[in-house]
Amino acid sequence: TDLSHIRNFSIIAHIDHGKSTISDRILEMTGTVAKRDMQAQLLDSMDIERERGITIKSQAVRVNYTADDGETYQFNLIDTPGHVDFTYEVSRSLAACDGAVLVVDATQGVEAQTVANAMLAMNANLEIIPFINKIDLPAAEPERVKGEIEDGLAIPADDAVLGSGKTGDGIHELLEAVVYNIPAPTGNTEAPLRALIFDSYFDAYRGVVALVRVVDGCMKKGDRIRMIATKTETQVEEVGARHPQETALPSLSTGEVGYLVTGLKDVSQVKVGDTITLAQGGVDEPLPGYREAKPMVFTGLFPIEGDQYEPLKEALEKLSLNDPALVWEPETSHALGFGFRVGFLGLLHMEVIKERLEREFGLDLLATAPSVEYHVYLKGGAMVSLHSPQEMPDPGSIERVEEPYLKAKILIPPDYVGAVMDLTVARRGTFVTMNYLSQTTVEMLWEIPLSELIMDFFDKLKSNTKGYASLDYDFLGYKPSDLVKLDILLSGKPIDALSFIVHKDKAYDRGRVLCDKLKEIIPRQMFEVPIQAAIGGRVLARQTVKAKRKDVLAKCYGGDITRKRKLLEKQKAGKKRMKAIGNVEVPQEAFMAILKVD
Ligand code: GTP
Repeated sequence: TDLSHIRNFSIIAHIDHGKSTISDRILEMTGTVAKRDMQAQLLDSMDIERERGITIKSQAVRVNYTADDGETYQFNLIDTPGHVDFTYEVSRSLAACDGAVLVVDATQGVEAQTVANAMLAMNANLEIIPFINKIDLPAAEPERVKGEIEDGLAIPADDAVLGSGKTGDGIHELLEAVVYNIPAPTGNTEAPLRALIFDSYFDAYRGVVALVRVVDGCMKKGDRIRMIATKTETQVEEVGARHPQETALPSLSTGEVGYLVTGLKDVSQVKVGDTITLAQGGVDEPLPGYREAKPMVFTGLFPIEGDQYEPLKEALEKLSLNDPALVWEPETSHALGFGFRVGFLGLLHMEVIKERLEREFGLDLLATAPSVEYHVYLKGGAMVSLHSPQEMPDPGSIERVEEPYLKAKILIPPDYVGAVMDLTVARRGTFVTMNYLSQTTVEMLWEIPLSELIMDFFDKLKSNTKGYASLDYDFLGYKPSDLVKLDILLSGKPIDALSFIVHKDKAYDRGRVLCDKLKEIIPRQMFEVPIQAAIGGRVLARQTVKAKRKDVLAKCYGGDITRKRKLLEKQKAGKKRMKAIGNVEVPQEAFMAILKVD
């Protein structure tokens, strides 16, 4: 296909505004997928994605669209991951596009990730077509939403397409707008190959597959290629496009988007953002914007049964094949035994990985509270990166501790400004600015420690604003903080896996609340269990789990056998997530209680 008949674009939206539904309608209306084969949200290929309705890996689908002008166009629809954890992948996916369809729910209007994604698209110099979705709903207010798009985002909305992913209304107009408003790719077909990798994954049968946009030149089966950042060389085994099933092609040429089977076995050699060129006669200058994905949140993962250590290790190895952002190292805890300290891009990434380990690999895991990477500067001048509270050096040897801060953007109706102030200030946030995007939407900017944000912040924000608030964040940098390690003692013994790092001013309150929580969570044992919170041996708070009084089965003796079995099964299920620490049975919730402290 010649360049003038290619359109590369992405659909961007706030979560739940209808991105996947619209993509599905496009596949259906271009005859790419017959209606009877449509499975809701076809583009989200992973089960967990489908269940949770989130898109994790970006996808690229090619459809042929015959426009009203009678010409057939090649559309490459690049579905970007939808969550703030994955903004780097979003930015690379956008770099592979020339335009974007900005979907805004007509009943909700512009929300935080509408703004964040629109900003990313503008930064990538994409032509933006607003699509105001869900106009079939009685609560739709397309005129108000147009106003928000113009006033809040400075994107002209006169020509916004109104429609509905559900009924298919407006989708034809949208496809025509893509042909007329999104520019065709530019690039030099005669120049040496340069292709941008915007996604890569491990396929059990074919090894590492990359999704690419060819910027200059051409790539075909058998070519020897080189990735500029990782310096990896390999031979192209296959190129092709997805419709959405993979279809091999003779070549991918300038302007085209498609997949590439690399023949490599390690996904860390095929990094998102890297540039592919020819091994001989290629270029040295990479495409702009390459960045290494960096884990931000760390947690300890421990098998409940000791014999699952090796299977856990193998499972992590398998998952890392597909996920270069997943990093891990062995961790030993006195309380929990052998496990791993695992780093993630963010909380969602962490939840998804934990769920996959349990579901796909059948592991029973105990996760410690997530923490961030602290920078501890020692008196001698050396700096230690701390991924686990357990590693905190002796306070006497520390000069200062720095913690990661985020720029957080919160969008709310004006009525909730006070509620958000209260919450963010309590979480050590520093107010930066506030702007009215429209009469009904205020944008507040904050600087806030990442460690506070991972402590149940989003749920609190939602509940304090009746669900209206939306949040987006970006890494800001490291700042010094007065941080201490708080130890939790059970029966007088410090439990390393329960210790956490906290700001000095909050230590007393958090210690007290946590002792109260643990008292509720830790089941009664045959003996009394004192719970203490302490800093460096000084006890701040104390609670006691009283001893158990009677055998839970006693009342069933001589009674109904099925009732007895049920009770036993219930106990067993309850036990699943318990770990014996010393002689105390501690459930999973105890570790997460650290996160829910106000
Ligand atoms: P994420 O992938 O989670 O970001 O969501 P999304 O933006 O892809 O939204 P999705 O397509 O999953 O739609 C979210 C919800 O809105 C689903 O329940 C859809 O059925 C519904 N929905 C999408 N488009 C329309 C529409 O035009 N009208 C109505 N009434 N509902 C819609």
